[in-house]
Amino acid sequence: MRTIWCTQQGVVQIIDQTRLPWTVEVVDVHTVHDAATAIATMQVRGAPLIGATAAWGMALAMAQAPDDLQTPAAMLKAARPTGVNLAWAVDRMCRALRDIEPGARAARAASGAAELCDDDVRVNTRIGLVGLKVLQAIHARTHRSVQLMTICNAGWLATVDRGTAMAPVYAAQDAGLPVEVTCLETRPRCQGGRLTAWELQQQGVPHRIIVDSAAGSVLHSGGIDLIIAGTDRTAANGDVCNKVGTYPLALAAKDNDVPFMIAAPSSSIDLAMDSGDGIEIEYRSIEEVTHLRGPSGTSVAVTNPTSEHIVSPAFDITPARLVSQLLTEHGACQATSEGISGMLDGTPTLSR
Ligand code: MRU
Repeated sequence: MRTIWCTQQGVVQIIDQTRLPWTVEVVDVHTVHDAATAIATMQVRGAPLIGATAAWGMALAMAQAPDDLQTPAAMLKAARPTGVNLAWAVDRMCRALRDIEPGARAARAASGAAELCDDDVRVNTRIGLVGLKVLQAIHARTHRSVQLMTICNAGWLATVDRGTAMAPVYAAQDAGLPVEVTCLETRPRCQGGRLTAWELQQQGVPHRIIVDSAAGSVLHSGGIDLIIAGTDRTAANGDVCNKVGTYPLALAAKDNDVPFMIAAPSSSIDLAMDSGDGIEIEYRSIEEVTHLRGPSGTSVAVTNPTSEHIVSPAFDITPARLVSQLLTEHGACQATSEGISGMLDGTPTLSR
């Protein structure tokens, strides 16, 4: 099952991720407005899937009002600020459509969105094979299950399929290599405890859940071979923007000599952003901090109700110096300007 698809009747469908892990509910997306709302409310989430949803949003807009590229493009780009794949996907669609006469745009937009989704799956499969080499090297040394830690959800739910950080796990599973995953809960929205754990369960991958604050002591006690996380935007110098909590995890990894790798499709690398300092961090509703959501929309207060100052940054920046490697569809490279540009030019600093 992919996370987004278009029916033969031209209806775009998604899995409503706000209902997971309790209910697998498929939702119709009829308009570009529906697509922007699905992104903003996190019915779909994860940078690559946000991009794919935006591409289908452009296709829906072209089916309804093919004269106007600018309004739907602006609406979609405004839905969430941090992940670069959103603007990347909208710009890719606009480039493909701008020189086409309006009457032909709907068909071209639908095929363009489908191509973008297929590309996402191909890219993630490649990242999986690049990461598989790393896991095989660990297994050859230890002769036991590879112990991998991850934060948030960068599995197939965050993409069209296969995932980014979890793609090496699924490649290992295909190759018969034993891997066990430690999922950080990932407050405030608990994408690790809810979504990564759910999808690993679906895939039959052994896993455990720990709270975020346990990561340091679990790394210190030994037994974790490596960390692989995803990224919402990686700057040209290798600074990584990812779910809030990634930076302290990278610090704890450094202090305990655990390799800290980032699975980064080139669509998540923003060469126009010199460093992480310029990346806009999304601040979300404080309700995500003060309350926890359960099945059927139930919500329980978990903080002092009379505290007035609450902030909810959704992402943080991990400096490039804490990142051991970037795993991309072109190969593994160092998280440096030279590593990234060499990888994109076809001369990676590490393995292909
Ligand atoms: O706020 P989300 O759930 O959209 O954030 C997603 C992440 O930050 C993930 O960790 C992921 O690594 C980036 S998408 C593969």
